[in-house]
Parts: sequence; structure tokens; C-alpha cells
Amino acid sequence: MIDATPSVFDASLSRSGESGIDSFVDRHAPDVAYTYYGAGKVALRDGLAGLVEPGENVLVPAYLSPAVVEPFHELGLESRFYAIESTLAPDFDDLERRLDDDTVAIVSVNYFGFPQPGLERIASLADEYDCYHVDDNAHAPLSVDEGTLLGTVGDLGITTLRKLLPVPDGAVLYCADDEVREAFDPSPLAGPADRVGAADCRYVATSVAETVLGASPSLHRSVEAFLADGADDPASVDPEARFEAGKAPMSRFSKAVADAAEPDAIRAARRENFRTWRRVLGDRDDVTPLYERLPDGISPYEFPVRADEPAGFQSELADCGVVGAHSWPILRESVHGNEAYETANRLSEEVVTLPVHQGIEPSAIEAVGDRLEH
Ligand SMILES: Cc1ncc(COP(=O)(O)O)c(C=O)c1O
Repeated sequence: MIDATPSVFDASLSRSGESGIDSFVDRHAPDVAYTYYGAGKVALRDGLAGLVEPGENVLVPAYLSPAVVEPFHELGLESRFYAIESTLAPDFDDLERRLDDDTVAIVSVNYFGFPQPGLERIASLADEYDCYHVDDNAHAPLSVDEGTLLGTVGDLGITTLRKLLPVPDGAVLYCADDEVREAFDPSPLAGPADRVGAADCRYVATSVAETVLGASPSLHRSVEAFLADGADDPASVDPEARFEAGKAPMSRFSKAVADAAEPDAIRAARRENFRTWRRVLGDRDDVTPLYERLPDGISPYEFPVRADEPAGFQSELADCGVVGAHSWPILRESVHGNEAYETANRLSEEVVTLPVHQGIEPSAIEAVGDRLEH
């Protein structure tokens, strides 16, 4: 069986050597100040709080999970969705049409661990219109693009450790620009928690349960749903509630796992699994990988494909033991079904993402490939 998320018991955690997220960030972005948070959304809010005024607006891509704009709304900002191309680059005509004197920031998103196409042009537009460039790197904590750690490309950025490691929470705010660093006034939610809390105990307990129950797919799924806080259940996706739920400092447990993680080994394992899915699915005419190339330094979040029959493909995968292949994302209400965002809507229906995390052995993916063929 291929699980949706890595387990705390994975071998890619160590207590010695060049380990830990801190040392990885220090090595790849030595001049960037960073702060831990429980959630990327709260990190975004704190990072922008000292830079913006209510009534200003932020441009964000339409292809986005619905809760990501909540921190902007809490700061009194309007979120304006810009259309995207099928390459996931911004539709720059659309983006520029939505820019005005009150635009305070443009957000780019490094989808699935890869730099968003058009990143340089976004940065130069932000310069030209004198607004901040926010590098939303939730998906790619370990991706280094041509020597630059993703998340540190803009004036400020975030990355989400929960999407990389077997942890219940965890995110990083990067303040790359001096002005951003000076304006940054951390709220009480910044930094790791100073005490062991409920999230730590709950997560460890469910991780143990997950291991004990590993042999039973149905039980396993229910543990997973619990861990994910119902992330895949459309009924539970109330954006405001999701934002509120993230308002806690990073748990002690998550910080301990982040300190013990072996980033290079994790990235290598994810890359290997990405390549294995590409090989295994290479002969199918009904699924097309979103990314043909896996450039050096990129740590994929998942292996995304466009499927002709997304629901059928997902149930085929489930029958072959792949837990957690899913479509992405559920779109914000104002985007969903809106003709102005045709490509974002099409992708949110067609894209199916397959897990590549470090807890998966490439041989398990190959075995799925054999079963899919029969
Ligand atoms: C693109 C993107 N940005 C930001 C976030 C928010 O991250 P967090 O869940 O850590 O608040 C997510 C999470 O789903 C995301 O997919």
C-alpha cells in the first residue's frame, strides 16, 4: 500500500550529522531571516501585517486552495484572483488588468515543488508597480532552483513543513527584503511552542495507531482523515475555520522532527519516486504528467498528472493500493465555475496528484505499475 503521507517512523530522520531544516536553510539562504510558525497562513499574515493598510489589495493566482487568502482578509485586504495558463504561469494580461494603485502585493505559487513559470516576470512587475512579491512556497520546502531556495525569491515568502515531514503542523516565514525584516513584528504565534501541547500528544498517538493499524486499509484511511483534519472532505473546507484552526504556534513535536530531518536524503527519495511514477505511467495515453522535467535541486511535493478520466483513474489507483491520490485544489467559491478562470477550473478537475514522499519505496510504485497494467 502507498500511503498519502510519510510516517514518523521513516528512516529519513536522524539524530546526527548535517541534519535539520535550520541547517538546510542556513546553507541555501544564509542571508535570509526566517521564523517558524504553526501554519503558513499565519506566517503570511504576520509577514505582511507591518507592510499593508486596510483597503489595499493582493493579487493571487486563481488556482489555489480556498483558505490561503484568509490572512489577507484578516488584514483588511481585498484578494483579487488572477487567471493562470495551463503551464501554471500567470496569464500576465489578466494579472496586469487587475493591478492598480492600491495593489500592495503580488503572490506567486510554486506548485507541487516547482518554481511557478514566470517567476522572474512577476518579480519585475512587483518592482515596476512598487508592490511586494510574496513567494508562496507552501509545497516546496527543500526545492532549490538554480541555486536559490524557493520561498526566498520574493520580498517575503512562506513554506509549509507539514507538506514535507510527518508532522501535524509547521511552517516557515522568510523575510528576504530588509524593509520586510524591519517591519516584521512577530505575533505570539511566531516561533515553536514552549511547552508540549495537545497537538503533540494527538499526533504521536495517531501515528502509533497508524503503524499498528497499517495492515488494515479501511482503518488506516480513517486515521489518515483524522490527521489531515478532513482536508480532502469538501464538507469540512470552510476557509475561515481552516485559518482559525491554524492559529497555534508550531508544536514541539514538529520542531523536533524538523531538527532531526535529513533534507538531502528526503529530497533524493522524493525525486526518485517522482521519476518512478513518470516511468510507470509513461505508456498511458490517458494521463499526462504536468511536469516533463525534474530539474536539479527540485524536491517534488507530489507527482501531478492531468487525467482524461480523473475519477476513474483515482479509483484505479485506490484499487491498486494507493491511498491519497487526489484532485487539487478545491477552488474558492468566487473562482469555482467562473468563466474568467477557465483554466484554473479545468485543472482543478483534471489534475490528480500521486504521493512521492520519502516513506515510499520506488519498488512499491513499480508494483502499482504492474497492477495497473493488469
Ligand atoms: C499553495 C498554498 N499556499 C499556502 C498554503 C497554506 O499553508 P498552511 O496550511 O501551512 O497554512 C497551502 C496549504 O494548503 C497551499 O496549498
